[in-house]
Amino acid sequence: MTATVEVRDLTVAYGPAFILHGVSLNAHDGEMISMVGPNGAGKTTLLRSLAGLVRWEQKTSRQVDVHLEGTITFRGRRIDPLLPHTIAAQGLVLCPERRRPFRELSVRENLLAGAYLTRERRVIADQLADVYRLFPLLESRARQRAGTLSGGEQQMLAIGRALMSRPHMLLIDEPSTGLAPLVKEPLFARIREIKEMGIGILLVEQDAATALSMATRGYVLSQGRIVAEGPAEALMADEVVRRSYLGL
Ligand SMILES: Nc1ncnc2c1ncn2[C@@H]1O[C@H](COP(=O)(O)OP(=O)(O)OP(=O)(O)O)[C@@H](O)[C@H]1O
Ligand SMILES: [Mg+2]
Repeated sequence: MTATVEVRDLTVAYGPAFILHGVSLNAHDGEMISMVGPNGAGKTTLLRSLAGLVRWEQKTSRQVDVHLEGTITFRGRRIDPLLPHTIAAQGLVLCPERRRPFRELSVRENLLAGAYLTRERRVIADQLADVYRLFPLLESRARQRAGTLSGGEQQMLAIGRALMSRPHMLLIDEPSTGLAPLVKEPLFARIREIKEMGIGILLVEQDAATALSMATRGYVLSQGRIVAEGPAEALMADEVVRRSYLGL
């Protein structure tokens, strides 16, 4: 099986501060991978690197010297030199941490904003129907102002919006952070359904036990390095990993 995503020796530094030190990982077509690790480990930076945002900062930042080294390939093509919109157009889409909707726009308008990669009305309508099938609640709230949604509903909207660009693979950063346990479970169930639709997922999650229970394979990132990787059950069963990194 060829990898859909292949990261090799990725190193990222902001000025003198090295955030990622030679990170390598891969994900196969349609696979669900979980990435766990302590606060500040570099998980968000890794996802932002994949999505081209670190490259974008490197090109635009006047404040800090952004260092980015290593290779990232997606579906057989190098993407590490590319900028976010080009990477998204190839089907690798980030659903960022704590993404807030456009508060004054309706739920439907927010979803349509996620379809910025295409102008074909039929495609957009089909995609909207798919998102409504996955999140019926978003359809029942289609005309509601997005700023009035609850935290859990806003997270569903964020994922729905990412789906509107028809991703081949989704990068989801901390979807359950700040949500009540009662809201988390249905959200994770929807993420499993997205995987069943054949979309690959790289999930970064604080809730390590849930994240690993959903995934085929997992990676543990700590202080910018992959410190453990393997089948999710094996990671969960590893005493050192559990105690040192998962807080289980
Ligand atoms: N743009 C930036 N400039 C400077 N330092 C940064 C930048 N982005 C992230 N960092 C630093 O990189 C380190 C890793 O941050 P990152 O957000 O990637 O970690 P994380 O694993 O996602 O943490 P959390 O679990 O809290 O979300 C932190 O020390 C952070 O301060
Ligand atoms: Mg983070």
